Order: sequence, then structure tokens, then C-alpha cells
Amino acid sequence: MPVLLNGNATSKVVLEQTAKDFEPHKSSGLKPGLAVVLVGDDPASIVYVGRKKKACESLGFYSEEHRLPKDTSEEELLGLVQNLNANKKINGILVQLPLPRHLNSQRVIEAIDSKKDVDGMHPFSLGKLVAGLSGPRSCTPAGVMALLDHYKITIEGKRAVVIGRSIMVGKPMALLLLEANATVTVCHSRTQNIGHVIREADLVVAAIGKPKFVKAEMIKDGAVVVDVGINRTADGKLVGDVDFESVSPKTSAITPVPGGVGPMTIALLMRNTFDAFLQQTHL
Ligand code: GUN
Repeated sequence: MPVLLNGNATSKVVLEQTAKDFEPHKSSGLKPGLAVVLVGDDPASIVYVGRKKKACESLGFYSEEHRLPKDTSEEELLGLVQNLNANKKINGILVQLPLPRHLNSQRVIEAIDSKKDVDGMHPFSLGKLVAGLSGPRSCTPAGVMALLDHYKITIEGKRAVVIGRSIMVGKPMALLLLEANATVTVCHSRTQNIGHVIREADLVVAAIGKPKFVKAEMIKDGAVVVDVGINRTADGKLVGDVDFESVSPKTSAITPVPGGVGPMTIALLMRNTFDAFLQQTHL
């Protein structure tokens, strides 16, 4: 039986540590502040944003939710980001992605003060990641690393395959695994013989957004499988990028969906917000 990498339980450990680290600063009256910006009414995004707000509340952080209509102009959105950059109560700014198509997400991310980039997606943060310098890391890949660390899964020297090359998950994931001394391969839509490449891996991280894409025959016996995918099927069920039923018996450890990577993303966002607070208040 594989070990189930439980993100619900592990995220609590990360959140408890953050709460403990915040405790001595409470007497200052200052608190970490997070602004979450949501443009439009994508139901999944509304759920994620709600979870982020709830996590802030449970830690005693200050939070602001800015919901803008889906036809918001880029100028208006950039104006809001500028205001949040200048707002002393706000230490972290997260613009929920994806944005409606008429908005240029790259321009919006670049407008965020890099000191307040709790999403690790500002080019300055990504540059630090590439250079191996400390800085905010994208929450989902950082959450995967924290989950693997909690279960003491060795990464050093292992063959890791990341499926997907997005700025939010695939690319930073590959770099974090490289930093942890794995031998890393990144697969994507143009990869030839993808099943063959994945089968070489001791550790597979699936982040492509294709329901049940990873099948049992693509997995080496005893591999560790991390599923970042959250896909909703026609009948409303949540499924990952991994065909859990067939894949899990071959693995030594695997994340469920839901209850795997998802909660870790939120926990690492809280950690990043707290770290940004410490940096900005020079505590
Ligand atoms: N949409 C889904 N996950 C995320 C995330 O971690 N950050 C942002 N900005 N948008 C998301």
C-alpha cells in the first residue's frame, strides 16, 4: 500500500508553525496583510479566493478581497495594484489567475511591487529562484516541496519528471527540485514518447490540467507521484491529472485529489505573506 501524502494534515503543520512564528509579533499591534484580487466570476477561483481569506482569518492576518467585474479594464486593474503597492496595511498581493482574456497577466504581475509578491511569480522573484537566492517561491511548487519534506521523501539524486511547464507550477517546480539536487526532466505537450520519459522517474509531479492523463503503465514501480491537477468532470467530480485508481498501487507514495497539493498551496501562501510582513516591517 502506498503512503498517502496527506495535504490536509501537512498544511496544518505549516500553518501552526506560521502561527507560532507570528505569536511574538502580536504585541506590536502590526499584522501580516494580504490582498487578493479576483477579476470576473469563475466559480473555481471564487472558491480558492474564499479559502485564502479564511486561512488569513484563522491566523489573525489582515486580509482584503477585491472582486472586480469581468469587463474591468487593464488600466483599472493596474490602478488597484498601484494602490495596494502603496497601502502599508498590505504586505502581500495576489492577483488570482487566470485573468479574463482581454487582460495581460504578465503586465499585471510585473506591476506588483516585488516585495509584495507572495505568489513568487514576479520576474524578480523568478530570477532569484533561477539564481538560487532566497525569495518568495510560487505557492504550489513550494507546497509540494513542503509536503515531500514532511514525509521525509528523499529528492537528492533522484530522477524527477515534471509534467507541465507553466510559470505558476511546472517551471518553478523543476527549479525547486533541481535546487534539491534531483535530476530533473520537464515534459510538455510537444514531448515525444512522454510515457517512456515518465516511466524513468522516481518522482513524478503532474501539472498539466488534463484529467487522469497519467496512467499506470507510465509509472515505474515504487515511484512517488504528486498530482497538482484539479479538474472538474462533467458530473461535477474533482479529479487530478493522475488516474489515481490504477496508478496508486504501483507507487510508494501518492497525493490524493482533493486533499493533496491544494491545501499546501494555501498554507505556503500564508507562509509567504508572513515572510513578506517580516521583511517589510524589519522585525
Ligand atoms: N490560480 C490557481 N492557483 C493560483 C495561485 O497559486 N496563484 C494565483 N495567483 N492564481 C492561482
